[in-house]
Amino acid sequence: MSIPAEQKALFLLQHAGPYEIRSVPNHTLEAGEVLVRVEVEAAGLNPTDWKTRFTELSMALGGNYPARQGQDVVGTIVQLGEGVTAFAVGDKVFHQGSYSNKLAGFQQYTAVSADLVALVPKNLSADQTASIPLALMTAAAGFYQPTRSLGSGAGVIPFWQDNDRGKYAGRPIFIFGGSSSVGQYAIQLAQLGGFSPIITTGSVKYTDLLKSLGATHIIDRTLPLSQLPAEVQKITSTPITFVYDAISDVETQNTGYDILAPSGVLAIVLLDGVDKAKKTAGKEVTVVFGTPHYDDARALGVDMYKRITGWFESGVLKPTEVEYVPGGLKAIPDAQERVRTGTVGARKLIVHPQETV
Ligand SMILES: NC(=O)c1ccc[n+]([C@@H]2O[C@H](COP(=O)([O-])OP(=O)(O)OC[C@H]3O[C@@H](n4cnc5c(N)ncnc54)[C@H](OP(=O)(O)O)[C@@H]3O)[C@@H](O)[C@H]2O)c1
Repeated sequence: MSIPAEQKALFLLQHAGPYEIRSVPNHTLEAGEVLVRVEVEAAGLNPTDWKTRFTELSMALGGNYPARQGQDVVGTIVQLGEGVTAFAVGDKVFHQGSYSNKLAGFQQYTAVSADLVALVPKNLSADQTASIPLALMTAAAGFYQPTRSLGSGAGVIPFWQDNDRGKYAGRPIFIFGGSSSVGQYAIQLAQLGGFSPIITTGSVKYTDLLKSLGATHIIDRTLPLSQLPAEVQKITSTPITFVYDAISDVETQNTGYDILAPSGVLAIVLLDGVDKAKKTAGKEVTVVFGTPHYDDARALGVDMYKRITGWFESGVLKPTEVEYVPGGLKAIPDAQERVRTGTVGARKLIVHPQETV
């Protein structure tokens, strides 16, 4: 397979700045890596792309402008680094991107460690597969990482290690934002763990979707948040020891903290906005880092990427809906604006970087 010396990548030029497509040298592989020709990419639908562009979350880019973004990658392996035996040139694979020149998804080629790559499930299209990496990893990290203040989770035993799947039977969970990409996987992981009831918030129009994923009770997201603790108590009198807030604005975080039982864990996906005055010892707030690309999460990521294809092929996990957006990398800024303004709904936008002219 011929590999071009140059490729196109989308660069964020500065904090809150514009994007520019540039031709740059292609990547050189290190041992254990594979070079992936990116055929499709979940463009901009990940809110993290606009948040790291415009908000204080730009710290994730480390000030390294021009910066490459993009967290979801599907493509074809075109080259194997030394020592890689698990894959072959021509394999269709997917992996999570990151804010680095090699890993970022908004470019035509990525280079990634082979143990954080999985084959595209046979029953999914490339577009559907591009909706998986960031959202699933964020849900999984919030469930399975040990509880610390940063980059952590609720310390739940992974469903693939809990053989009888009964460990959390009868334990309720409350999930904010079940229709979000992260929330859809949080519901599925809750069901696979045996949590019950699985209570979530979402628009009424998503009732069938949320039930099909495993939610047992859906609370209309338009209900004033002040009424949520009472609504939850109507559903279960068992203390809620795990709240997963897949929305994590300041209001949902604080309501989630109110719903949480003493000695419970509130997993949040943005910076901690829980009112310091209401925090009590034993009620943990944990900030989830939804990536396998740092040391503390690598083991979980490797464990998941060994199994992930099978989970989708066997129907253990279901992907989110997707919407293909034509235009390649050039389509990302407008698509990102749709994400930022909250008009996309319960699906992920996908672009194909090779279409870039
Ligand atoms: N910490 C991390 O590593 C990490 C990683 C990934 C994502 N995140 C964060 O996680 C959050 C979710 O990301 P995502 O990609 O899953 O989002 P998404 O798919 O873009 O979320 C859109 C969905 O959320 C629903 N929604 C929005 N506000 C809601 C609310 N207040 N209550 C209930 N539902 C609500 C929308 O419903 P309607 O259609 O009814 O409007 C829509 O269905 C974002 O804040 C993102 O920045 C963090």
